[in-house]
Amino acid sequence: MKTVNIGILGCGTVGSGVLKTLAANGGWIEKRENLKIHVKRILVNDLAKERPEGYPKSIFTDDPEEVLGDSGIDIIVEMLSGENPAADYILRAIASGKPVVTSNKSVVAARWNDIMTASRGGRHVFFDASVCGGIPIISILSNSMQANRINRVLGIINGTTNYILTRMSKDGAQFGDALAQAKRLGFAEADATADVEGFDAASKLSIIASLVAGRHVPVGSIYREGISKIDEVDISIGKELGFTLKMLAIAAIRDDAVEARVHPAFIPSKHPLASVSDSFNAVFIDGNAVGELMLYGRGAGDLPTASSVISDIITAAKTIGADTPGVINTTEETVAAGDWESEYYIRMTVPDRPGVLSKIAGVFSEHRISISSLIQKGFDTPHVPLVFVTHPCSKNAMLDALAKIADSPEVVSVDNLIHVVR
Ligand code: HSE
Repeated sequence: MKTVNIGILGCGTVGSGVLKTLAANGGWIEKRENLKIHVKRILVNDLAKERPEGYPKSIFTDDPEEVLGDSGIDIIVEMLSGENPAADYILRAIASGKPVVTSNKSVVAARWNDIMTASRGGRHVFFDASVCGGIPIISILSNSMQANRINRVLGIINGTTNYILTRMSKDGAQFGDALAQAKRLGFAEADATADVEGFDAASKLSIIASLVAGRHVPVGSIYREGISKIDEVDISIGKELGFTLKMLAIAAIRDDAVEARVHPAFIPSKHPLASVSDSFNAVFIDGNAVGELMLYGRGAGDLPTASSVISDIITAAKTIGADTPGVINTTEETVAAGDWESEYYIRMTVPDRPGVLSKIAGVFSEHRISISSLIQKGFDTPHVPLVFVTHPCSKNAMLDALAKIADSPEVVSVDNLIHVVR
């Protein structure tokens, strides 16, 4: 049986999950894969802290050199958080010729070109756990769908926002109350900005979109909107229109241009992603050979993420001494995600009097925006909500039209603009 010595960097939630899973399933992995995974060294911040059972105290260290500089270690497994110093550790390990497994989305998203460049020539980096925890989306995109041109990936890739929107939709909660509940139950961090405003999803999407495009799609080029602008009234009007609201991450290729965006979106309630509730993640892929395909599961958590890390360790172990190609061949060219066409839901408040609708419809018409449905809510009040759903139009045309509508004396306020994605 082959034995592979691993050196672990970081023993927080994910690292502990890896140790627990190896302790529980190591025997099964040996039998099935003919491979013994031996944990040789573990870098931690705090040597006094209690760690998972089954590992001698002597293998824990707070000196990175004792892991990175140990020539007896075959694979470096990086599970720290944040870009630095993790990026330096990863690049150093790759340069020394060792395969690297990482669960760190910040490093993979921000240092994509450095990592891809360093890992040419039979050097290997595996990062399945960096996106969507236990869902093997990276491995599926890179190892199971190579025959396809990927047309589009739609993902619910942030569990916190999915949990909040589920509470708003199922319980009629307002955003603030649903967020407070998510924090109480431990689904959201005390500072939930990265999740709620879409930064976490944008980092993950940068990695997915770079694989789909075969070129680097930087986080900074991804259009991003959070869910804090969502009112429960939008969710409930959306339901009447046959829609469910989800925080979507979208990567699409159109005529070789890349579209990459993260924002709340109405999707038809019959779409398979509409039933993905609570803190679950799912990724819906459209490949030009396979057609539509969907993965569903836990996007975070110690054991789900450990599942992806250990699977990568096993794959990495098989590359040692074998003449296998390196990571997927993406170019170093950087692409910016551009403008796109979308259907839109628009809610505004207007006075209930003749001529208002025709004025608004006139502005949409000037901007070549076609309306597909219209609802007026309320009755016998001076001001009423008016909701439009449009046919696909350019985002820039929509923003120009809304600026003009918002300035018009016939309109009290433009209250929300939400993408509709089918
Ligand atoms: N905070 C993330 C989420 C998990 O809510 O999905 C880690 O990326």
